[in-house]
Amino acid sequence: MEPFLYSHQNRDRIIWMSQNTNTLSTTPAIQEALNEAVRRREYALYPYKNGLFGLPEALKEDVGAPHYDVLMANGGIEALYVITRALLRRGDEVVASDPSFLPIHHQVSLCNAKTIEMPIYSDPWKMTPERVNEAITKKTKMILLIDPINPLGTAYTGDEVRAISEIAQDNDLYLLDDITYRDFSDDHHVTSDYYPEKSILVYSFSKNCGMAGLRIGAALAEPELMKSFVKYNVNPLSVNILAQRAALAALQTKDQWISGIVHICRRNQATIKEAVERIPGVFLPVYPSYTNMFIIDIGNTGADPEKVQEKLLLEHGIFLRAGNYVSKRFGDRFVRTSFSLPEEECQKFARAFPQVMAELSG
Ligand SMILES: Cc1ncc(COP(=O)(O)O)c(C=O)c1O
Repeated sequence: MEPFLYSHQNRDRIIWMSQNTNTLSTTPAIQEALNEAVRRREYALYPYKNGLFGLPEALKEDVGAPHYDVLMANGGIEALYVITRALLRRGDEVVASDPSFLPIHHQVSLCNAKTIEMPIYSDPWKMTPERVNEAITKKTKMILLIDPINPLGTAYTGDEVRAISEIAQDNDLYLLDDITYRDFSDDHHVTSDYYPEKSILVYSFSKNCGMAGLRIGAALAEPELMKSFVKYNVNPLSVNILAQRAALAALQTKDQWISGIVHICRRNQATIKEAVERIPGVFLPVYPSYTNMFIIDIGNTGADPEKVQEKLLLEHGIFLRAGNYVSKRFGDRFVRTSFSLPEEECQKFARAFPQVMAELSG
């Protein structure tokens, strides 16, 4: 059984907790912008290559990087592809973590470069500046900072972001700052504040704005650095105009609704925590999570995460993710679940999960 095929085929009855998507209602402004763009048949032309007027500016303001240039992309993942392709060469090393969002590591390998995966599956459940420093060799070209981290939900403090930025600067490295989950954090800091020259910010509209299906994201960097990305842009014909309209509407209204989304996420995490605490041997390594997901460690129970995933999906219509998607080394110890979804769906999970664990624990 291919879980994605099964889940898409049964989409209307699946509780989708597997991809950190956000099915909460954000703002009607997004749908209104989409409808208006359809009504005006804006899709008949290619969009302006530098982005819908006002969108790059709104994005720079949102992340607080007024002097950066913006490259719009069909999802943060496409921006990441362009950046890795442009900056990495055979033999280069990228300091990263394990667990991590592994599709980026795959992109690094496509450049014949290598990720040095620092194990972070223990307290403090994130990279520390000291360990980043130790991991740097003559071959290091880039540090990958995912802040807050998918899948753990750990966030970096301002001091840590500053220290990692200084390490990058001292060693003349690129600092790839993936801020996909920034809006779920209470106190997020961008590396561009400390090391503007070679920080690259990667932005996604998928999670905070609940627009994963529209496929829109961006890279932000200093104008000089941005020039080096242009020839690797796989999509010089620009980004889906409907997605850009929706993105602009989302940014223009975000301060009215984002705290409501984060609030529900915090309540949902508390609901899951309560359920987890009743299951022997199961625990949450990071709580609260500063993303819209966290991991549930089931390593002491003898249950196989893939079996947990399958049973929840087939018997309860709940789709979460076995750990091997985000860690080869530690993936057999946990499942990852997101919680940016209606509270009644999360409560259904909180009832089903202890039952499934009781059935599968050794
Ligand atoms: C850390 C991280 N970066 C980037 C992405 C890709 O986001 P997008 O949907 O904008 O391509 C994801 C998606 O899960 C992610 O977790």
